[in-house]
Amino acid sequence: MTMQPGKNGGLISAMINQTADGRLAYFDRACLLWDEKGKITYFSGEMPSVDRIAGHEVLLRENMIALPGLIDLHTHLPQYEFAGLGAEALLPWLEKYTFPQEARFADESVAQPQSLNFFQSCLSQGTTTVVAYLSSQRSAAEIAFAAAVSTGLRAYLGLTLMDRNVPAALLTTPKGAEKDMLALIDRYQGNGKTEFVVTPRFAISCTSALLALCGEVSRAHKTLLQTHISENLAEIEETLKFFPQAKSYSEVYDSHGCLHDRTLLGHGIHLGEAERKLIKERGSVVVHCPASNNFLGSGIMPYARWQAEGLRLGLGTDVAAGYSLSMLNETKQMTEMAKLREYFDTHGGVRSAAGASLETALYQATLGNAAAIGRGHELGSFAAGKRADIAVIDDAKCDTLEGEERNHYAALPERLARVIYRHHPEMVVTTLIDGEIVFARG
Ligand code: GUN
Ligand code: FE
Repeated sequence: MTMQPGKNGGLISAMINQTADGRLAYFDRACLLWDEKGKITYFSGEMPSVDRIAGHEVLLRENMIALPGLIDLHTHLPQYEFAGLGAEALLPWLEKYTFPQEARFADESVAQPQSLNFFQSCLSQGTTTVVAYLSSQRSAAEIAFAAAVSTGLRAYLGLTLMDRNVPAALLTTPKGAEKDMLALIDRYQGNGKTEFVVTPRFAISCTSALLALCGEVSRAHKTLLQTHISENLAEIEETLKFFPQAKSYSEVYDSHGCLHDRTLLGHGIHLGEAERKLIKERGSVVVHCPASNNFLGSGIMPYARWQAEGLRLGLGTDVAAGYSLSMLNETKQMTEMAKLREYFDTHGGVRSAAGASLETALYQATLGNAAAIGRGHELGSFAAGKRADIAVIDDAKCDTLEGEERNHYAALPERLARVIYRHHPEMVVTTLIDGEIVFARG
């Protein structure tokens, strides 16, 4: 069934919603209605009156489960092609796979199809908003923004900036970076569903002048700023060699104006106590990337402890160090890694960091991530006034039983657990953004 864009729409299915306090609300049958602009006008487990629903084109997915559209807060578009390859420590992995791959995006015949494929893959996994690093070429960034627009995803995209310690093909200069950023901001910032993100790759690959420029531009234009922090022990050591005057990795960014309340800091596994205090004071967000941290053997972020301290947190796939673009896979990975962390903390005599429940992980992938980019009032849950961004899941795909046989464990929380732990590549069947179908399987 297709829907006419620009018409009042609706959906009737089982639904799992987020509440503001981070809990899940389960509805075996609920109705969502939206207006022609994609704004939700009705959400309830009670069916609306005939009058109320009249004039809406309603999708019926009664055997399926609808979730608020998933939000990925940290990933790398040009790296998707080599996801799953070359697991080794961060710095050699960057040299061996990442830098050569990102250089390939100078070629339009690489950048074009791969950008389109990346956004379509996000949609096919139920992701409706993505915050991504691009490669370093302005031409490839233009291609990526155009591809994002054509696929209809909400996309926060950043030209990845480096002006030292990387192959020559990836280098920019502060002057060149400023020119490129201003041109992209002018064209894509707040232009429909796209936003520009100021993106110094990480301190090792940026001079003081480039970092200071990033702080300035992100503040002047009120954009997000994304970078990596404290992911790997060798990376931390290198960083402090390049910035010997800084007391910590966090201070490197702070002293260049890069820590503010629109800053997304990828990883943050090994942050010290004073650093966490500083990041909290600045209102910056630490983005947890558990699959990536596992794949590169970087460590396990004590999510629950950081959360208890009041740090703002996010969750991201970090492809290609993370090997999947699925935020549902990331929620699974988050719960599994948290259990390991709790086990080793407890047995190592460290103050225990409680594990992260599936409920917490799903909250983080939806409303939590929306709040982390200042969009909690519009995205991340079903409520009147918010955007109709929806992932519809056919959980029968995740079942061991086939055909008419009904699984005995059929309560909605059990169905959700199956979706997350028995992931099936085809389980997301329809993705809607602003009430428009942007992905439909088969
Ligand atoms: N640190 C600097 N660049 C990268 C990257 O591309 N991926 C990851 N995981 N960490 C980084
Ligand atoms: Fe990353």
